[in-house]
Amino acid sequence: MRVQEIASGIFQVGVNDWNLRDFHGYRTGRGSSYNAYLVRDRKTCLIDTVKAAYAGDLADNISRLVNPAEIDFIVSNHLEQDHAGGLPALLALCPRAKVLATRAWLAGAEKYFGKDLPFQAVADGETLSLGKRTLQFIAAPMLHWPESMLTWMPGENILFSNDAFGQHYAAGFSFDDEAPADTLMDEAARYYANILMPLSPLVAKLLERAAGLGLAPKMIAPSHGLIWRGNPGRIIDAYRRWSSGTTTAKTVVAYGTMWGSTELLARAAAAGAAEAGSTVSVCPLGPFERSEIAREALEADTILLGSAVLNNLVLPAAADLFHYLKGLKPPARAWGVFGSFGWNPRVLPAFAEEVKNAGFNLGSDVFQQKFRPDKGEIDAARAWGRSATAARPVNGEKKNG
Ligand code: FEO
Repeated sequence: MRVQEIASGIFQVGVNDWNLRDFHGYRTGRGSSYNAYLVRDRKTCLIDTVKAAYAGDLADNISRLVNPAEIDFIVSNHLEQDHAGGLPALLALCPRAKVLATRAWLAGAEKYFGKDLPFQAVADGETLSLGKRTLQFIAAPMLHWPESMLTWMPGENILFSNDAFGQHYAAGFSFDDEAPADTLMDEAARYYANILMPLSPLVAKLLERAAGLGLAPKMIAPSHGLIWRGNPGRIIDAYRRWSSGTTTAKTVVAYGTMWGSTELLARAAAAGAAEAGSTVSVCPLGPFERSEIAREALEADTILLGSAVLNNLVLPAAADLFHYLKGLKPPARAWGVFGSFGWNPRVLPAFAEEVKNAGFNLGSDVFQQKFRPDKGEIDAARAWGRSATAARPVNGEKKNG
C-alpha cells in the first residue's frame, strides 16, 4: 500500500498483507491490510500500528513523511495484535512518543509487552489537541475487545474506526470510490458476518450513541481495508441493518454428504424453500467453507443444516460449521436439521437438540431418511423444505400461509 494523503496533513501509512488467507478461521480470499494513520500538526500523532511482522514497513512509510523520532503520540485504539503487534518495534524508534489508549488496554498490553510502556490513559469522551486538529476518544468496549475505542477527529469529521467498518481487502488503492461497489460491499458484509455479527447489539448501541453525539463522518478510516470517503453513509446504513438483526426471505441450505443421499435431500429442501418464496443459497460443505456460509447467513431468515452420519456422529465438516455459527449467532428465525443415515437414527435428532440448546429456534422436526432417498422421500424432503421455511413468522405473521 502506498503512503497516501487522505486529508490535508493526514496520511495512511499502513501496509497490505497480500498473503493472508486465514484470519483465525475466516478465509480471507483478498488478503487484508493493517491501516495506520499519521497526523502531521503541531504535534505528530500516529493512529494504530500494524502486525509485528510489518513494523519495519510501517516505519519505512512513516520515514517518508517524518523522522519517526518526531512522533509525539501513538493512539492505540485496539490491542489485538494485528493493530498493536508492531508497537514495541515502533516505540524503539520514537523515544518521546506516549501511547494513548484506554486503561483496559494497558492491563492487556502489560501481558503482551511488559510493564514499561510510555502509556497515558484516555477516558471516554476525552479530547487531545494536536494543534489545528483535535482528537476525541470514544470507548467502544467489545468492539472488538474489551479495551477497544474509536478516535474521532471533529472539524475534519473523520472517524478512525479500527475494526469497525473494515473489510479484509488488500488492494492497490485506498478508497471505497475506487473499488467495484459490489465487491467492496460483499467484503464488508463478509467481515461483519465473521467478526461483528455476535456483537450486533453492541454495534447497534454504538451507532445510536454516535448519532446522539452528533457524529456525522465525512470519512471513515478503518484499520482494515478501504477508507469510506465517497459514501460513508452506505456502510453506516448497512451496519444499522446488520446490527438490527433484520432478515430477508432467504434460506441457507448447508450440508455435508457422504454418498450423495444428503445432497439429494438438500436439493429437494432447497426447491421447497424456493417454492415457499425464499431466495435460496445452497452451500455444500467442502466447496463452501465456514466463513462463506456465515456471510450467506448474515441476513437469512432460515438456516437448514444437513449431514450424513459417520461413526455415530454428524460429519466433521457439519460439526465444524455448527460450532462456528453457534459462536457467530446469525439472526435466522428458523433452523432445520436434515440428513441421511445408515443404521443410527439417533444422530440427527441429537444434532438438532444441540441446535436447540444453543438457543436457536428449530422451526421444524428433523427430516431424516435411511440410505438413498427414493422418489417419495425426495418429495417429502421438498415438502419439508417448504414448511421449514414457510413456518417462520415474519413480523408476527406467517408468510406464504
Ligand atoms: Fe483487526 Fe480485532 O483486530
